[in-house]
Amino acid sequence: VPVTLFEQIGAEIIEKVITEFYIRAFDDIIIGHFFFGKDRLDITKKQIDFANAMLGGPRQYSGKPLETAHESLSIRPPHFGRRQVLMANVLAELNVPEEAAKGWLAMEERLRPLIFKKVIKADCNHLK
Ligand code: HEM
Repeated sequence: VPVTLFEQIGAEIIEKVITEFYIRAFDDIIIGHFFFGKDRLDITKKQIDFANAMLGGPRQYSGKPLETAHESLSIRPPHFGRRQVLMANVLAELNVPEEAAKGWLAMEERLRPLIFKKVIKADCNHLK
């Protein structure tokens, strides 16, 4: 029987990971500015549901689609990388087993294309 990452990690630890991750992200020198003026508890709650569902758990995510939630933010690849570093640190510090932590990070890595703004090629005909 395949065991989901949700079963391996457990709802309680998932909640702790996301809560601690957002405490650090909001204060972070590299990505903290994206969160200025945002409601940390609200984002934390939505993202607990998101992570629970992503990892194979029973919760429903009821926030915006990821593309919509991030499209106005000018997030670039290094910011995404920073998120993954913070997340990896929290997973290790909360003793999530290494294989499960790797699985979690890999699932987030696959969401990468949804987080960046679509690059629209400028129409430069007027320069010709
Ligand atoms: C796999 C990567 C990511 C996932 C799964 C994710 C997930 C989410 C979710 C579920 C929300 C809530 C959407 C809603 O309010 O309905 C959200 C909002 C947000 N995320 Fe992400 N996110 C990711 C990457 C990032 C990165 C790399 C940054 C910035 C460095 C970021 C910054 C934000 C901000 C600032 C908001 C609040 C948007 C607002 O309320 O206007 N996210 N994210």
